[in-house]
Amino acid sequence: MLEAIAAIREAALARVAAATTSEELATLRVQYLGKKGELTQVLRGMGKLPPEERPRVGQLANQVREELERALREAGEKLSRQEQERRLRAEALDVTLPGRPVTTGHRHPLYQVLNEIKAVFIGLGFDVAEGPEVESDYYNFEALNLPKDHPARDMQDSFYITEDVLLRTHTSPVQARVMEARRPQVPIRIIAPGKVYRRDDDATHSPLFHQVEGLLVDRRVTFGDLKGTLMAFLQQIFGDGVRVRFRPSYFPFTEPSAEVDISCVMCGGCGCRVCSHTGWLEILGCGLVHPKVLSMSGYDPEEVSGFAFGLGVERVAMLKYGIDDLRLFYENDLRFLQQF
Ligand code: DAH
Repeated sequence: MLEAIAAIREAALARVAAATTSEELATLRVQYLGKKGELTQVLRGMGKLPPEERPRVGQLANQVREELERALREAGEKLSRQEQERRLRAEALDVTLPGRPVTTGHRHPLYQVLNEIKAVFIGLGFDVAEGPEVESDYYNFEALNLPKDHPARDMQDSFYITEDVLLRTHTSPVQARVMEARRPQVPIRIIAPGKVYRRDDDATHSPLFHQVEGLLVDRRVTFGDLKGTLMAFLQQIFGDGVRVRFRPSYFPFTEPSAEVDISCVMCGGCGCRVCSHTGWLEILGCGLVHPKVLSMSGYDPEEVSGFAFGLGVERVAMLKYGIDDLRLFYENDLRFLQQF
């Protein structure tokens, strides 16, 4: 019996010393000292011994148990110290290194300009309206006095989903949608900002770009109201010194129609490369809402009139910041974006 205990002691201490992980130690503890452990079994078998041998065997077994427990505890402490050191070395936290700066982003220059445009019109009493980017042929063209065979459809090369559904080519369909939803109430005073799509791609045209539409419908709205509104807007965006001119033009959904130019923001109107030496830059299209457009959307052109306009956000941003390539807005190059 004494020899058996000595053998257990020897084997157990050797295995504890050789253990390399805390899990191994836990297994050894169960194997030797657990309820069914080897040493525990020996102590249980003591009842079969002659009474005179019991004290010596019991003493030795208890000694060995204490010794094993100490060995397990010490080995456990050593291993967990080693394991922690290994973890710390893997994380390699050097608190003396300089900190990495946290960079904060900011709004994209296009949306900064868009927000400025919105703020001006909201200040003038306009609401912000929205419409879908995937639009029906009816709202994108038909309701704006552009029937299927109208030659002016060629001005806007489109992405079609089906014959009657397309990516909207301008924000003007929101005019018809808002009038239809609000008829016969007046006044309507809305702007409709958003993305529009055309089959175009070069330094000044992108297949996706942004417009802001404007619509005002009320009794006795005149071209003078349109001029005053756009003057106030352009002066707030480009400064009080900007000069504005209205040029007769054609849009199927307005009559009369005009294109609006501002004095060149680069040369002040003297003539330079940017304004092709004319002193003027085209900035938006506008006009008085065509009577047919009013009546198609449920308003009586004898009772109410209105004005509308549409402007390109990219174009305003390019002129405001002197950017010469539209594609810079979409390339996500931080060296460009961080300048705004
Ligand atoms: N929808 C026109 C375009 O994208 C711009 C435009 C012109 C809008 C005149 C208007 C307007 O509301 O009255 O080319």
